[in-house]
Amino acid sequence: MCGIVAGVAGRDIVPVLVEGLKRLEYRGYDSCGVAVHQGGELRRTRSTARVAELGTQIAHDGVAGSTGIAHTRWATHGAPAEHNAHPHFSRDRIALVHNGIIENHEELRAELQGRGYEFASQTDTEVIAHLVHHLYEGDLFEAVQRATARLRGAYAIAVFCRDEPQRVVGAREGSPLVLGIGEGENFLASDAMALAGVTDQIVYLEEGDVVDLQPGKSWISARQADGGWRAVQREVRTVHAHSGAAELGPYRHYMQKEIFEQPRAIADTLEGIEQVKPELFGEGAQHVFKDVRQVLILACGTSYYAGSTAKYWLESIAGIPTNVEIASEYRYRDSVPDPKTLVVTISQSGETADTIAALKHARAQGMEHTLTICNVATSAMVRECRFAFLTHAGVEIGVASTKAFTTQLVGLFLLTLALAQVRGRLTAEQEAAHLRNLRHLPAAVQAVLALEPQVIAWSEEFARKENALFLGRGLHYPVALEGALKLKEISYIHAEAYPAGELKHGPLALVTAAMPVVTVAPNDQLLEKLKSNLQEVRARGGELFVFADSDTRIENGPGMHVIRMPEHYGALSPILHVVPLQLLAYHTACARGTDVDKPRNLAKSVTVE
Ligand code: M6R
Repeated sequence: MCGIVAGVAGRDIVPVLVEGLKRLEYRGYDSCGVAVHQGGELRRTRSTARVAELGTQIAHDGVAGSTGIAHTRWATHGAPAEHNAHPHFSRDRIALVHNGIIENHEELRAELQGRGYEFASQTDTEVIAHLVHHLYEGDLFEAVQRATARLRGAYAIAVFCRDEPQRVVGAREGSPLVLGIGEGENFLASDAMALAGVTDQIVYLEEGDVVDLQPGKSWISARQADGGWRAVQREVRTVHAHSGAAELGPYRHYMQKEIFEQPRAIADTLEGIEQVKPELFGEGAQHVFKDVRQVLILACGTSYYAGSTAKYWLESIAGIPTNVEIASEYRYRDSVPDPKTLVVTISQSGETADTIAALKHARAQGMEHTLTICNVATSAMVRECRFAFLTHAGVEIGVASTKAFTTQLVGLFLLTLALAQVRGRLTAEQEAAHLRNLRHLPAAVQAVLALEPQVIAWSEEFARKENALFLGRGLHYPVALEGALKLKEISYIHAEAYPAGELKHGPLALVTAAMPVVTVAPNDQLLEKLKSNLQEVRARGGELFVFADSDTRIENGPGMHVIRMPEHYGALSPILHVVPLQLLAYHTACARGTDVDKPRNLAKSVTVE
């Protein structure tokens, strides 16, 4: 998704801007650009190629300057083309980059066209550039304040003006933006990671903030409910952001590396946890956990499937009614709020716009008990929620989420145990047994990773398919959904997941010899039912690819391909069963030659609605 880097310094800022864009590449983008103040005018280079090539082009164009803004664009309004790439200029006086979506852009465009402004792009962003130009009366800070008052929707912006060479102004509402404070220089970025190596002194700007950057000084004003402005001090935090450009080591792609990092990520997430207690989620959690009578989980994509798995645990182990909602749906539907609800958001990035909006919606309905399971300590989600459990997956770069999912499941299982405990449903023996299983998980996942050669053999065949069905039952139905999502997002093979019992109610019509049917087959209480469902597929000539626990007695045979899972893992089995599905998607995508880490049209951090 779009990324912003900007700054004012006493040195050429272009290397900082380009390096910052490289660190934001993992978010996904389809064009990029840089603009600087140079020799009394605005200069820019834009490209639909990668940031590295933009850097070469900038050097060729001789673009350099101490005040500048830069951007990676993930297209929303207007095709991925150079004329739509940011920075956008207004009459060679204002330069602006933007992350978010301006909902009233059509109305503003018409108004500005009426005032004689000509548009060079189809973007909603160019509207803001012209609006700032129109409102500019010699003070950029004031012009941006006035302009933001006219915007509806979500934005983070960075803007500079030809007439004020040593000044950049930023603003945010609904999209992330941080201020980085350096020695005699100041920066803006979509996340602190973009400024790694430049400064670790970070201010997380809040909704409605407008920030003024000049060399050696910066200040912030916050929009008030009555539309006025008030100067504010925001906390400066020391943030040791890691570079997104982690070493690949022996791996071909970050996704493969991240799949293989799962034993370490799970161990790190469990580090220091000696016993189950509500305080794992924050001070005061005991009191709140005792008070709640239901759980509402809000998330998107893979995180939503982690929540869907947790529903089974929360209801069966903790005995607490649980609803799981797709964040983008929940925020717009009428639901029945209960103040005694524990609202749990799940997010790898902690910046997903839909999940943050759903959280705010829940809170606005009087549900104040909020908790997040999140991988980024400094994210908006962690700041917005009362309680937090941090997964220690480490930076996840591949767009397809893998280690974030399994560590989210670890966090959600601990939440289940903590709720079970306060509700009197967890004996000391049960707690000890669950903790033993959790501690053994890294070794168990390692054993599953050893199945990779067998999965590669299957992937050759999958690479020639255009469709696939995934089946699971009960606790493993969300795992089937996650397997289908992984396959479609990186291999572009159309994949659907069904609870196996649902086959005969429609999808069985799709089953032919050309349709591979991937099945998650743990040895649980639904095994015999699942076996009957597999027979229904075989009877129609369907080709089955089954990941079966060792003691299921599902055997290889005509139309029946079986990979044996090393051990049955009870309630935590989804954490093992998802791993070969990740590997299947990964190797199938490799065999098809897709851009595994940056699949088409997708972004890592989905910061727009
Ligand atoms: O950062 P989040 O966990 O909030 O992201 C949610 C989804 O956008 C994300 O899981 C997405 O579905 C992944 N590409 C799936 O692999």
